[in-house]
Amino acid sequence: MTTNQSLKPLTVAVNALGHLEIGGCDTVALAKKFGTPLYVLDRYTIESICREYKNAFKSYPKIRMMYASKALCTIATSQLIAKEDFGFDVVSGGELFTVHKAGVDMSRVLFNGNNKSFDELSLAIDLNTGRISVDNFTELEMLNEIALSKNKIVKILLRITPGIECHTHEYIQTGHLDSKFGFDLTQIDEAVELILKKYKHLELMGLHAHIGSQIFETKIYSDEVEILVKEIARLREKFVLNLDEINLGGGLGVKYTKTDKPPSVDEIADVIITALNTAIQKYQIVPPVVYIEPGRSIISTSGVTLYTIGGQKQVPNSTKYVAIDGGMADNPRPSMYSAEYSAVVANKANSEENLQTVTIAGRFCESGDILIKNIQLPNPEKGDILCVFNTGAYNFSMSSNYNRVQKSCMVLVNNSQSDIIVYRETFEDLISRDVILDGLI
Ligand code: LLP
Repeated sequence: MTTNQSLKPLTVAVNALGHLEIGGCDTVALAKKFGTPLYVLDRYTIESICREYKNAFKSYPKIRMMYASKALCTIATSQLIAKEDFGFDVVSGGELFTVHKAGVDMSRVLFNGNNKSFDELSLAIDLNTGRISVDNFTELEMLNEIALSKNKIVKILLRITPGIECHTHEYIQTGHLDSKFGFDLTQIDEAVELILKKYKHLELMGLHAHIGSQIFETKIYSDEVEILVKEIARLREKFVLNLDEINLGGGLGVKYTKTDKPPSVDEIADVIITALNTAIQKYQIVPPVVYIEPGRSIISTSGVTLYTIGGQKQVPNSTKYVAIDGGMADNPRPSMYSAEYSAVVANKANSEENLQTVTIAGRFCESGDILIKNIQLPNPEKGDILCVFNTGAYNFSMSSNYNRVQKSCMVLVNNSQSDIIVYRETFEDLISRDVILDGLI
């Protein structure tokens, strides 16, 4: 079993008080000390999955592990993941700036995205970002112009749409794919010709693809490898071009509920390495550098969110709603994707008494702000602490200030110690960018 197959952080325990502990910290005490909603990240769980990835791929020496920052991007998590010897995939000026401020070696950063701005690309070049994954013809031209104006040669990958895409737990394969990301397979040659003949400030290093997220299917990765290696071999023949890099993107799934059964990191690595060796042999190419850039599976399992339970409403002969002090602004995934989560009452972590089936309602002014439907909890009462698991990825990074509620605090726990890594916003923070117009009232 690898960490992405665990519903809870690896250090979860129940202490003598019957309270849930993570990283040796009593979650009820954490809620009291830092307030709720509170994002809690377990350092040991993050380090474990990073090491599992590196270990699983070690038989392919030219592997380069990257972390997809979009899942969660803060200075402290970037420091932690860089320490595990990962590079970074970033998709905005903001993520670029964050990893730079975290002291990440910028030669190990890849800048990706379908509509990067002039300013973002300029910043990426100024910071000596290792690779830029170019998404389309407009960007090729703009990037070359910026590089020319700075008298620099920029190393790029071409983002391609390989004609396979994962839709939740199934995937489709087509000649073309109607996707907003990347060059269609039929457009690659034109892009390569432009780079070789016209865009002299761009140096093409390889190809980049990403086939989906929360993937449970392993074979899709072997198809992706085959397509990318075949393209590299084809381009070598046609353009006498030695492309040495392929980037397979991210996507490995995690376990949000008891019924989720994501493959292990070892299974995915096995499928990818076997497919690589087969394709390298088949197309007779030098083994390329291979980037893997998981986001969710690196950070999701390490994170939980603590909430305080407030009011309750029993609809006659129907649903019992239990309200919490957070919801769709700190975790938009249930309302956006009908995503499912698991939870326990942290201060009754061992209790099976008086189990009730309830629906966890968020505090935001929308009927759709429901965090978990029909979950069994032991007599949830006002003041109890609800712990929702697997919230490390795409929660804080997709959070908002809806209803003008302050964004939550985040703490990192390890060896019974807890450190704030993102402060809770204040009311003053909320209005800090507002302008008061003179003379209106
Ligand atoms: N590389 C590229 C180019 C990507 O577009 C993505 C995710 C990743 C890597 C990382 O994929 P992961 O390993 O995290 O699955 N907001 C959605 C997920 C969107 C993922 C977008 N791209 C969610 O909350 O489920």
